[in-house]
Order: sequence, then structure tokens, then C-alpha cells
Amino acid sequence: MARIAVIPGDGIGKEVAPEGVKLLEQIAALRGLDLQFNHFDYGADRFLADGTTLPPEAIADFRDNYQAILFGAVGDPRVPDSRHAREILLALRFQLDLYVNLRPVKLLADRFSPLRNKGTKEIRGVFFRENTEGVYVDVGGTYKQGTPDEIAVTEDVNSRKGVERICRAALDYARRHGVKTVWMSDKSNAMRHAGGLWQRTWKELAKEYGDLELKHMYVDVLAMQMVLKPEMFQVVVTNNLFGDILTDIGAGLAGGLGFAASANLHPGRIGLFEPVHGSAPDIAGTGKANPIATFLTCALLLEHLGHDAEARIVEQAVELAVAENVLTPDVGGDRDTQAVAAFVRAQVERLARA
Ligand code: NAD
Ligand code: IPM
Ligand code: MN
Repeated sequence: MARIAVIPGDGIGKEVAPEGVKLLEQIAALRGLDLQFNHFDYGADRFLADGTTLPPEAIADFRDNYQAILFGAVGDPRVPDSRHAREILLALRFQLDLYVNLRPVKLLADRFSPLRNKGTKEIRGVFFRENTEGVYVDVGGTYKQGTPDEIAVTEDVNSRKGVERICRAALDYARRHGVKTVWMSDKSNAMRHAGGLWQRTWKELAKEYGDLELKHMYVDVLAMQMVLKPEMFQVVVTNNLFGDILTDIGAGLAGGLGFAASANLHPGRIGLFEPVHGSAPDIAGTGKANPIATFLTCALLLEHLGHDAEARIVEQAVELAVAENVLTPDVGGDRDTQAVAAFVRAQVERLARA
């Protein structure tokens, strides 16, 4: 039995996460998997109603009693400083120590490529974003706030342990998947302290992973090469902030945020699974939210639970929706969220019985 906590969050998170649950419930029923879902209302509505972001006991409850969290998105215009988003999403990532943010960049069909002459053969990488350190740790402060002399400091925190474990995660993944070249990306030419640590760690690991080619590229150049020669990058490892930015470029290369899935992992522990996109207030409530990022996220969740065959079924069902153009407007279709979801479920039904 696997217990899954569902946190739809805000905006389109509340539209796509329930479709993810329906898909998982359906595949569980068809294939005899015992998945149990518990829903949590953490998000802007709850925060604005009673001040709760993530109750202190939630972390231990998730850690001890659940195998996975299916997350929608957080972010709401009524909370302009995004306090609840940090206290929910970043707290989950940090306090559960989910140090691997795994973000596939996989183009599903050539027609979604924004690049001339680059298609599914070229755009098929996996990014390993460090997920518990960097400028996200909220170390810093302001001085003389509100005066013309105001100073703001956000520290970039990098530990040897943190850098090494995310690099190892990328390298071990490459080994498992037969990828020979792994790229580490930093900005060590300008940020010499943190960058130096990444460089030293990477060089040491190169000795241990002699069967792989450990390469380095500065993050500015890597951002450019992703657009010019995406085929160079099958596995990339980088820090929290650079990973955030590069994986939105990756989402763009793979047809947009409507297709981009992610997993927040710590091997052997609970995983947090979320589409890369946010709460999309501009389309919330219109039925335009693309549920496919969430479905591909559900495939990652199924893999995490050891249900690889079921994960492949979900991916194949999504591929059929793509082939038939049963898609939302962000990716050139004319269907709404529920129509796409119903079509994908129908394909799952067929594939699971086959
Ligand atoms: P966003 O990802 O919400 O939206 C960016 C653009 O992409 C919008 O035009 C949106 O309509 C479109 N889009 C995103 N997902 C889509 C989908 N599934 N289907 C169709 N179109 C989609 O980013 P934003 O507008 O910068 O942020 C909105 C809020 O979400 C902010 O509060 C932000 O902090 C938050 N956010 C949360 C997460 C998360 O919870 N993981 C991630 C990113 C942003
Ligand atoms: C993401 C988001 C988050 C991040 C925000 C909402 C804090 O952009 O999941 O990519 O920067 O990690
Ligand atoms: Mn992001």
C-alpha cells in the first residue's frame, strides 16, 4: 500500500491536481495497485482564512506516513510576497531534505519544437537541480530598509555535502541510463567561493566516475547552447537558482510549461511530485490549463513507487493525446482541461487492458 498526500494549492493547481488523482486512481484500479489518497487544503485560501501555511506537524506526518506528495502549484495575486508559497513548497523541499529536483526536458513531438531543425532526437535531457541550498535558503537581511541607503543581502549557501550529493545523483542517473557525458554548470568565474567548491567537487568525482565524461560549462554559455545545440545536454547538474532558470528554458524547448514535469527526491524517502509550472492566475478558472505536465508528473510518481510499467502506460497515453492533437490551446489544441484528461484516461484504459 502506498499513501499519497495531495496538495492542489492555488489557481490551476486546483484544476490539474484533481485530474492527476483521477488518472492515478484509474490506473490503480486497472492494475491492482493499492494507492491511498489524502487531500490537504494548504494554499492561499487557507492562508488568507486562518493564517496557516504548512502546519508544523505536517512535515513529520508526510515523512513518516506517506510515500509521495502530488502537488499542484502555489502562488496567488492576493499574497503578493508569495509568503505562503515559500512556507509550503520550499519548506517541503527543505525540511523533507528533497535535494534532487529532477526535471526532464523531453520534446514529445517535432511540431512543438521552437527551434528550426531540432526535434525529438535532439531535445531529450534531464536536469538535476540542487533543491535544498543556494540563494533559496533565506539567509540574509536588509539594512536601512525604506531609506535611500537601503541594503539587501541574499546569501548563496553551498555545502560540500550538498554539492556532492546532487552531483552524485546526476552521475548515478547517467550510469543507470547509459549516458556517457554529464555537464556541471556554475558561474565559478565570477562567484569564486561557491563556484570553487562546485569545481573541486566535480574534479574529485571525475576520478571516481572514470567511466563517464564529466564536463563543465558556465551557466551563461550553457543557456545559449541549450537553444543552439540542445542535443549536447542529456544530463546536466547545477545549483538551485540556475536550475530553476535553465529548466524553464528547457520547458520552452519542450513545447512549454504545459508539458514540463518534475520530481523532488531524496533516495529512499518520500518524494514530492509537481508540474514545473505555477498557478497561472491568467488562465485559472477558464478550463485552459494543460493537464499533461501533471500527467507526466504522475508517471514520475509511479516510477518512484516502483510501478514502472504503469508509468510507461501514462506516458504512452499522453503520446496518443499528442498524436491526435487532443490538447489545450497553449500547445495548439482546442480542447479544455477535462476533455484532454478524459481522452488520456480512455487511452490508459485501453493500454492497461492490452
Ligand atoms: P506560471 O507557470 O504560473 O505561468 C506562466 C505562463 O505559462 C502563464 O501565461 C500561464 O498561463 C502559462 N501556463 C503555465 N502552466 C500552464 C498550463 N498547465 N497550461 C497552460 N498554460 C500554462 O508562472 P508565473 O505566471 O510566473 O507565476 C504565477 C504564480 O505561480 C506566481 O505566484 C509564482 O510564484 C507561482 N509559481 C509557483 C510554482 C510552483 O508552485 N511550483 C512554480 C512557478 C511559479
Ligand atoms: C519552481 C518555482 C519555485 C522555485 C518558486 C515558486 C519558488 O519557480 O518550482 O520552479 O523557484 O523553485
Ligand atoms: Mn521555476
